[in-house]
Amino acid sequence: MTGVFPVTRLRRLRRTGALRDLVRETSLGVDDLVMPLFVAPDPLPNERLPGLARHSVETLVHEVDDLVGLGIRSVLLFGVPAEKDEEGSEAWRDDGIVQQALRALRPRFPELLLLTDVCLCEYTSHGHCGVVDADGEVDNDASLELIARTAVSHVEAGADVVCPSDMMDGRVAAVREALPQTPIVAYSAKYASAFYGPFRDVADSAPAFGDRRGYQMDPGNVREALRECEQDVAEGADMLMIKPALPYLDVVRAARDRFEHPLAAYNVSGEYAMVKAAAAAGDLDERAAAVETLTAIRRAGADVVVTYWAKEFAGWH
Ligand code: PBG
Repeated sequence: MTGVFPVTRLRRLRRTGALRDLVRETSLGVDDLVMPLFVAPDPLPNERLPGLARHSVETLVHEVDDLVGLGIRSVLLFGVPAEKDEEGSEAWRDDGIVQQALRALRPRFPELLLLTDVCLCEYTSHGHCGVVDADGEVDNDASLELIARTAVSHVEAGADVVCPSDMMDGRVAAVREALPQTPIVAYSAKYASAFYGPFRDVADSAPAFGDRRGYQMDPGNVREALRECEQDVAEGADMLMIKPALPYLDVVRAARDRFEHPLAAYNVSGEYAMVKAAAAAGDLDERAAAVETLTAIRRAGADVVVTYWAKEFAGWH
């Protein structure tokens, strides 16, 4: 009889580290990770959550120099502008904060992949991801042109890849039409999540009224996430992204099984903060928990993981 104990003993391949490394089904390396970075008029270090610090353009250049030295090859830029207005006009200004950062980084790090988050919420005075109409509703179609304009200004300043994250219908088509040559990572299934808290503090992007449930996805839905992915593929997305990651690993798996496109997952600020807090309380080992978390996201089917641990992870290797 084969396949049954005592002939089969699954522990045989677990005996040494070399054996375990040889047969591991899921790899996790620095090349799979994207480091998010925040650029603002003034730096604001974050001791508790180091991956969620704000950098000025000047300190960003130093930070990126460190990241590149550690082997990081892609970063995702977010901007925190000096001034916000109703339309979020600093998002697409030629001298906006992200555009300045791109112009500083591009010539210094020609090999580094510069991804940008394309959204209006950090730039609008009301904190919503699109423009708000007279009734206080986020106006889908009026927002599309502004989102496309923002993406174009990022590419003109040196971005390699744009990542629309606003969850307006038709945003990928609008960006695709404006930028036929630029890779688009679509935040296809972005849930209305409680796990964005630390990000909103750093990016100063919490909505001033209401919430984002009118445009971000309901946490109970997975089939709808596949419809979002399908739409983005049809509109010209090159890569799909699921966000958050850990509470939505089933969505990552469903998207992996349905689509051949490269798939990313965003291990968001609240997921990072939970582990940091538990580690600070002495309840778990941060490094082990982080590696396990990132491995699980890869195992669920993500090719790429956007994570605030990217720098720390690179240092652990
Ligand atoms: C912009 C955006 C958000 C995040 C990424 N892009 C915030 C939001 O939707 O409120 C969250 C990322 C994180 O929590 O790490 N719309």
